[in-house]
Amino acid sequence: MMPPGITDRVLVVEGDITRQRVDAIVNAANPSLLGGGGVDGAIHRAAGPELLGECRDLGGCNTGEAKITSGYRLPARFVIHTVGPVWKGGGAGEDTLLSSCYQNALALAELIGLRSIAFPAISTGAYGFPLERAARIAVCTIIGFLTYHPAIERVVLACHGNAAHTLYQDILGQEKTINTEYEMAQALFSHISMIEASHGIRIKNREAIARIIAPTIKSDTQALSVGISLNNWVAVAGAYGEVTVSESVIRTILDSLKSA
Ligand code: APR
Repeated sequence: MMPPGITDRVLVVEGDITRQRVDAIVNAANPSLLGGGGVDGAIHRAAGPELLGECRDLGGCNTGEAKITSGYRLPARFVIHTVGPVWKGGGAGEDTLLSSCYQNALALAELIGLRSIAFPAISTGAYGFPLERAARIAVCTIIGFLTYHPAIERVVLACHGNAAHTLYQDILGQEKTINTEYEMAQALFSHISMIEASHGIRIKNREAIARIIAPTIKSDTQALSVGISLNNWVAVAGAYGEVTVSESVIRTILDSLKSA
């Protein structure tokens, strides 16, 4: 059974983020977290006044960081507030700060066990960030995170307007290279799960294994070969319970792959 592809986990929809039925929606807020226009205004209106009350106790939020509140009257159980960078021409670290918004929001969602999250096009409204540049940063950051964090099952990119929707769809389709690494990581996770099931063990450092090997392998056959080598190591080592595969073993498997 092929693991889900990236397009099974990243959905682009045209519509109002406040109506998305996900565990958390992300708010494009300002550092005060005390509401505003655009997405911020829409979320506060839909969530009701209790949201502002909780936000008042958060003490604000730095650009690129994320904080979480309840969703109150929203369909989403939570709101993850993040503050995007104001566009200043591209030389003030705006790209990195925007990527941090997506990364920190996803990390926060994973930390509390959420499985689905919806994002607006952060910073592309009042903050003036060029839409296409922002969309590429968003898609790359999201795919990069999902590659090694299977727990997040669905990311919804809620676009206001047809132009944004079409642009996001195009960009998602173009991310071939990241897709390859993504698909190889999912294939490795799938093989590791089968090894764990067949030996009754849990491999604690599956993410580290995938991060070392996935960028190098380019085919399902190579992923299968890694799976067989890992399975052989588990059998020979007589591994049981919680297992950590040492980096030297991982590198040996990788080297044997390269020399094959
Ligand atoms: N659902 C989805 N997307 C929306 C919605 C909505 N209901 N409303 C607006 N958008 C889109 C806009 O079209 C834009 O593409 O969200 C994107 C972000 O626009 P803004 O809301 O202006 O956010 P941002 O550019 O990050 O500016 C943040 O604006 O509202 C204030 O308090 C906020 O000071 C902060 C600043």
